[in-house]
Amino acid sequence: MARGLTVIASILTVVLVVGAGAARQKYHPGQDYLLRRMYSAPYLTESEFDKLWTTWEPAWRDRAADKSVAEVRRLAAERYGFPPSIDPSSAFSLVFVRTPRGLAFNCMSCHGGRLPGSGETVIGLPNNDVDIQAFEEDLGKLRGKPGAAYWGSTRGRTDAFTISHALLMYRDLEMEVSQTPVDLGEPHPYDLDAPPWWNLRRKSSLYSDGFVRGGGERAIMQFTMAGIDGPALRGFETDFKQVLDYIRSIRPPRYSKPIDSALAAKGGAVFEKTCSGCHGTYGPDGKYPERTIPIDVVGTDDKRLRWMTEGFRSYYAKSWLGRNSNVTTQPVGYVAPPLDGIWATAPYFHNGSVPTLYGVLTRSARPESWRRSGGPADYDWSGVGLQIETKVEDTGSALDRRRIVDTRKPGLGNHGHPFGFALSEQDKRAVIEYLKTL
Ligand code: HEC
Ligand code: HEC
Repeated sequence: MARGLTVIASILTVVLVVGAGAARQKYHPGQDYLLRRMYSAPYLTESEFDKLWTTWEPAWRDRAADKSVAEVRRLAAERYGFPPSIDPSSAFSLVFVRTPRGLAFNCMSCHGGRLPGSGETVIGLPNNDVDIQAFEEDLGKLRGKPGAAYWGSTRGRTDAFTISHALLMYRDLEMEVSQTPVDLGEPHPYDLDAPPWWNLRRKSSLYSDGFVRGGGERAIMQFTMAGIDGPALRGFETDFKQVLDYIRSIRPPRYSKPIDSALAAKGGAVFEKTCSGCHGTYGPDGKYPERTIPIDVVGTDDKRLRWMTEGFRSYYAKSWLGRNSNVTTQPVGYVAPPLDGIWATAPYFHNGSVPTLYGVLTRSARPESWRRSGGPADYDWSGVGLQIETKVEDTGSALDRRRIVDTRKPGLGNHGHPFGFALSEQDKRAVIEYLKTL
């Protein structure tokens, strides 16, 4: 009897220890900070959030009327592309930290997405469904004054540079708030698709043009500035050491469906000949060259490279944010990124202009104008990427208009990167099969 109890007790102990281990493993301190600590001023109260539906167009509003709070929040999440939280004790959406003064946006508004197939929320997966602009406009209507911030003009992307530009303009070099804006040159609007965070396991530079090298925790604090004073901002540095460490620990999600391994092996050989020189090799001995490819060689849309103003780059370099990194004020092209987990991160290129991997390899499979169809979990498993429709009519609603990716617009060009065009159809299929294994 006593012996039996001891056995049960020791089983329980093992379970508890394993449980605690699992919890620790799940919440790296950096992840915990991202989910629970506030690095920007609260944006709205929960009761405001719960009233946003009253500003919606009739078709949406009818879906929300007479619904429970939980159901209205689910609808709002669908409308704005906010993934559900992974942590039941934190705010109801992954993109907010719940604070006593209201909801504050966190990094995952752009850097947390839903996995194709399962729809599971994954931190570090780019949010390819987000429409913060819709949220901003609805909040403006609710408050009876137009939303103050400009977030972008297409769903699933944000104009992250214009936002950083606007934030940095009102800071002196030590990050103290300054009332008079610094002249950093004129920012032009263009939308960007966030890169996956797991690339930082292999990259030492940051951003699509690699303009920040050897950067540390300060470089990733660009979005912590909204409504935060200088001392508080500088004080975040210790937390962001952990955040960076966490970001570097993230692994790409595995492809969730069966892979034809013979075809993938053939594709691996083609990849090695055609792609590895820029994108590196994979597996345990994988080597990543981290090459910046001049813009006239890669040929993708050049606005991200050319429209980030030199004024911004050199001010950033001198500022507290950039001082401990090596900042290039005149980068020449785009970094060929690692392709780990690439199956999950459609749409492709720095501007998200090409919906599928097949389109990356095939000029004629890059539609000029397209719109994602289906929900966040739906995927085109054959082309590997977003499920889309190309017959897109403007319904007149701004919400619908932002779903349209018109690649003729500045910054959204889908040209360039011709490196796979000459492959045979068979080789393309093989390369795509190989890419699923990364
Ligand atoms: C409004 C959307 C948005 C928010 C919020 C945001 N980011 Fe980003 N982030 C981006 C975009 C877009 C890029 C790519 C910019 C480019 O083209 O170089 C990026 C790039 C990065 C990179 C470089 C990745 C690489 O492969 O080079 C890191 C790291 C990063 N962000 C971390 C953060 C952290 C940490 C936060 C929160 C403090 C944050 N971001 C908040 C949109 C956002
Ligand atoms: C000469 C160098 C070079 C070669 C060769 C090359 N690429 Fe790239 N690749 C790049 C650069 C640079 C980018 C980033 C372009 C951008 O975002 O504008 C890129 C982007 C990509 C992307 C999109 C990445 C993302 O996160 O959106 C994919 C997928 C890709 N390449 C696959 C391939 C494949 C497959 C091959 C071989 C058939 C290949 N590339 C050959 C330089 C190269």
